[in-house]
Order: sequence, then C-alpha cells, then structure tokens
Amino acid sequence: MKSHVLRPLWVVLGILILFLIVRHFLVPPDFGIQERGFMYGYHRKSNEGEWKALKAKYKTRKYCKDCHSDEYESIMSSKHSIIQCENCHGPAIDHPQKPEKLAINKGRSLCIRCHAFLPYPTSQRSKIKGIDPEKHNPGQECITCHDPHEPNLEE
Ligand code: HEC
Ligand code: HEC
Ligand code: HEC
Ligand code: HEC
Repeated sequence: MKSHVLRPLWVVLGILILFLIVRHFLVPPDFGIQERGFMYGYHRKSNEGEWKALKAKYKTRKYCKDCHSDEYESIMSSKHSIIQCENCHGPAIDHPQKPEKLAINKGRSLCIRCHAFLPYPTSQRSKIKGIDPEKHNPGQECITCHDPHEPNLEE
C-alpha cells in the first residue's frame, strides 16, 4: 500500500489507542452491565449503596406523632389534615438532635402561599379557600385569628 493511504490509518489507530487508555483510567472499575441486564443494569455498582446511604430530609408526620401528640391530634381532625407538618416547619432531618427546633414561621407569607385567592377554576389550587391578602385583615398575622393546627371555621 502507498504511504498516503497508510498514514491516515496510523492516525486513526493512534486516536483509538489513546481513547482506550484514557477510558481505562477515567471509567470506574465497577461500571458496566449489572445483574439486571443492559437496559436497567447499565450503571456503576457502588452507586446503589451511595443512594441507600443518602439520608431522607423529610420524615412525614408519623415521625412527629409521639413527641408532639397535641399538634398531631388537632391537625388530624382539622381541615389541614392533608398538609404535612414539614410543609410549614421545614425538613426534620435529624430533629430533635439537629436541628434542635424546627422553624416556626408566624408571618402572613406562610399562609398566603396557599390561601391567596387564584381565579383559575380548572386547577385544584382554586379549590383551597382563598382570600385577598390586600383586603383580608391586612397588617395582622393570620395566626392571631386562625389556629394553623386547627383552622376550621364555624359552619
Ligand atoms: C423524639 C422527639 C421529637 C420528634 C420525633 C419530633 N420533635 Fe419536634 N421537638 C422536640 C423537642 C425536644 C423540641 C424542643 C423543645 C420544645 O420546644 O418543645 C422540639 C421542637 C420543635 C419545634 C419548635 C417548637 C418551639 O416552641 O420552638 C417544632 C416546630 C417541632 N419540634 C416540630 C416537629 C415536627 C414537625 C416533627 C415531625 C417532622 C417533630 N418536631 C418531631 C422533640 C421531637
Ligand atoms: C399550616 C401550617 C402548619 C402545619 C401544617 C403545622 N404547623 Fe405547627 N405551627 C405552625 C405555626 C404558624 C405555628 C405558630 C403558632 C403560634 O405561635 O400561635 C406552629 C407551632 C408549632 C409548634 C410550637 C408549639 C405551638 O403549638 O405553638 C409545634 C411543636 C408544632 N407547630 C408542631 C407541628 C406538628 C407536629 C405538625 C404536624 C402534625 C404541625 N406543627 C403542622 C404552622 C403549622
Ligand atoms: C382579625 C382576624 C383575622 C385575621 C388576621 C385573618 N383572618 Fe381569615 N378570617 C377571619 C374570619 C372572622 C373569617 C370568617 C369570616 C370571613 O369569611 O371573613 C376568616 C375567613 C378566612 C378564610 C375562609 C374564607 C372563605 O372563603 O370562607 C380563609 C381561607 C382565611 N380567613 C385565611 C386567612 C389568612 C391566610 C390570613 C392571613 C393572611 C387571615 N385569614 C387573617 C379572621 C381573620
Ligand atoms: C400547603 C398549603 C396550605 C398552607 C401553607 C396553609 N393552608 Fe390553610 N388550608 C389548606 C387546605 C388544603 C385547606 C382545606 C381546603 C379548604 O377548606 O380550603 C385549608 C383550610 C384552611 C381554612 C378553612 C377551614 C375551613 O373550615 O374551611 C383556614 C381558615 C386556613 N386554612 C387557614 C390557614 C392559615 C391561617 C395558614 C397559615 C398559618 C394556612 N391555612 C396555611 C392549605 C394550606
């Protein structure tokens, strides 16, 4: 063969070998096709353990029940029973160790997030009772009149 044909072939081979060497060092040894085959198993094996070790930030209200039974009981018999505690108080993570106390937001913004009236009849959001924050007792915190754990209005 003439060298002008061979030369590009050597270049291609060189690039291929370089690619394989770099790949050898960059791709972790446990990456590849695992037990479940190519479609579901194509991943780094040790990543499974990393996800299992990841700590869930949110605990759901089952976790609060024993220590804060008063708040739990009242909210479960109220119109707010579908809201998780952590929706208002933030993630519990390792509470009561870390953080020792969860946040308490006493401001209007907490409630307006869900209760500002929205005129969208097709969305579920408009089924939540809404007020106009500009007109509904402005300047006063909602919790001076409504109990967040028992917001039921007189029927
Ligand atoms: C193992 C018991 C325990 C569990 C479980 C627990 N807490 Fe607490 N919580 C405490 C203790 C102790 C304090 C600090 C003392 C206090 O203020 O009552 C506290 C404080 C708080 C405070 C601040 C109270 C204040 O007056 O400043 C809030 C809010 C709170 N917890 C919410 C929650 C929520 C929501 C959950 C569930 C996701 C939860 N806690 C789970 C024991 C617990
Ligand atoms: C709609 C938002 C909201 C939800 C849901 C909610 N809280 Fe609260 N929580 C508040 C607010 C606001 C306060 C402050 C009330 C005040 O100072 O009058 C508070 C106060 C508290 C306190 C301090 C003591 C007290 O009663 O004032 C604890 C403890 C607490 N909440 C636990 C819980 C737990 C446990 C749940 C779930 C079972 C929960 N909260 C669900 C908004 C909420
Ligand atoms: C001064 C006391 C007071 C304050 C402060 C207050 N409310 Fe009210 N709220 C009431 C009373 C009384 C009613 C029932 C009569 C009515 O519908 O106006 C009511 C009704 C509501 C209703 C039901 C509306 C309906 O369509 O039936 C919602 C939702 C509500 N309030 C949310 C809030 C929110 C959110 C805040 C804070 C941004 C707040 N309120 C502040 C006294 C208060
Ligand atoms: C995560 C969304 C959410 C947040 C935050 C929230 N609420 Fe509600 N609230 C609801 C839902 C859902 C209902 C039940 C549907 C309804 O009746 O409107 C409700 C119902 C109510 C009602 C009407 C109860 C009845 O008898 O009809 C009042 C009053 C109320 N909430 C006040 C508050 C106040 C005050 C705060 C702030 C401390 C607050 N809510 C925060 C979602 C929320």
